[in-house]
Amino acid sequence: MTHFQTDAVHAGYKSHEHNNAGAVPIYQSSAFTFDSAEHAAKLFNLEEFGNIYTRINNPTQDILEKRVTALEGGSASLALSSGLSAQFLAITNICSAGDNFISASHLYGGSYTQFDVTFRKIGIDTRFFNADKPEEIETLIDDNTRAIYYETLSNPAFSIIDFDKISAIAKKYHIPVIVDNTVPSPVLFKPFEHGANIIVHSLTKYLGGHGTSVGGIIVDGGNFDWGKTNRFPSLTQPSKGYHGLIFNDVFGKNCPFGNIAFAIKARVEGLRDYGPAISPFNAFQIIQGIETVYLRVQYQSKNIIKLAEYLENHSKVKKVFAPFLKSSKYKENFDKYFKNGAPGILSFELKEGLPAGEKFVEGVKIALHETNLGDSRTIVTHPASTTHRQLTEEGKKSAGVTPGLIRVSLGLEHIDDIISDFDQAIG
Ligand SMILES: Cc1ncc(COP(=O)(O)O)c(C=O)c1O
Repeated sequence: MTHFQTDAVHAGYKSHEHNNAGAVPIYQSSAFTFDSAEHAAKLFNLEEFGNIYTRINNPTQDILEKRVTALEGGSASLALSSGLSAQFLAITNICSAGDNFISASHLYGGSYTQFDVTFRKIGIDTRFFNADKPEEIETLIDDNTRAIYYETLSNPAFSIIDFDKISAIAKKYHIPVIVDNTVPSPVLFKPFEHGANIIVHSLTKYLGGHGTSVGGIIVDGGNFDWGKTNRFPSLTQPSKGYHGLIFNDVFGKNCPFGNIAFAIKARVEGLRDYGPAISPFNAFQIIQGIETVYLRVQYQSKNIIKLAEYLENHSKVKKVFAPFLKSSKYKENFDKYFKNGAPGILSFELKEGLPAGEKFVEGVKIALHETNLGDSRTIVTHPASTTHRQLTEEGKKSAGVTPGLIRVSLGLEHIDDIISDFDQAIG
């Protein structure tokens, strides 16, 4: 088995299969020709894998999928147009109207709204639990519960759940664990080693890493037996949308390519019918980002400690939030689970609250005032007025967002320059 750094630049790609191009080519083609009518039929029957139409699959997307599958250690992946579409397809792959899933409430604002408002509109009930009290999960499970969901390091509360506790509950009830591993990236945390069954990512963040392309991905861990109970009829009963195919029978644990039933169904039903395909160009851009993710994340991981020290010692800063700080209530779980360091992200609250926070985000000269994270440039965000603006006061509170909170995503600049920039902006 090769190492992470090697997989990040090679996995899923062999130049001799692509006209000897050393770098991954962009297959900017909407459709792909069939060798014969029989070939077309085999592709549509899923008797053979191959390219049909870029809404469903494409060679550049395929390389991206294989690369992330290797980095996360899964069985198969499905790249999509955004992180939110990856979550949407992952949940709706096993949840229909009348079903529910249980999610930690510490979430990225867009995810919170998707779960709390949009899923409810289509009849899927999201039951929130307090990330600090995983034992609440058991009280929320019923016969219609299809998944447990959490962010492996939540944005922007930076909470770290006790993964072992959740995994024990999930195993007891045989419910899959779906996690968003966007913030740590697989450089810092490997969810499949800690009880996760499905991973979703916003590729827009650390994996893409340059703030150029929005994308998302679902990674199937291949480690869940969908047929063990009758809780997952969408995988174990004949599919109306795919001429009676039983996904788990053909692509489940007895499939010669590995247990890829979840990923295949998400592609041939979810992606086919909802349509959030990633463009080949964005897939290419994200592949470029992945090639350097290990170096970038390690560099940011080192520098974030210096930035946190600077902020903690600043007389105008009330509190700094980062899971690696002694003051964090998540320090114990951080030390237990994050052996490779912390992501380059933190948040802080200025003593003078909201007005000082607004002055700060308007005063930075090097850092960008945006809502992204995981970029090569340092970004400062005021979640209460941007990413979490649509949430109710109660929702903001349960997502860990206070009025004066500033989130920082460290870029690749020299840390001394960023500290000087913050110094003049805090004033
Ligand atoms: C943790 C997390 N998950 C998911 C998303 C959504 O990703 P996208 O913007 O690619 O849809 C974001 C976006 O900020 C995020 O921070």
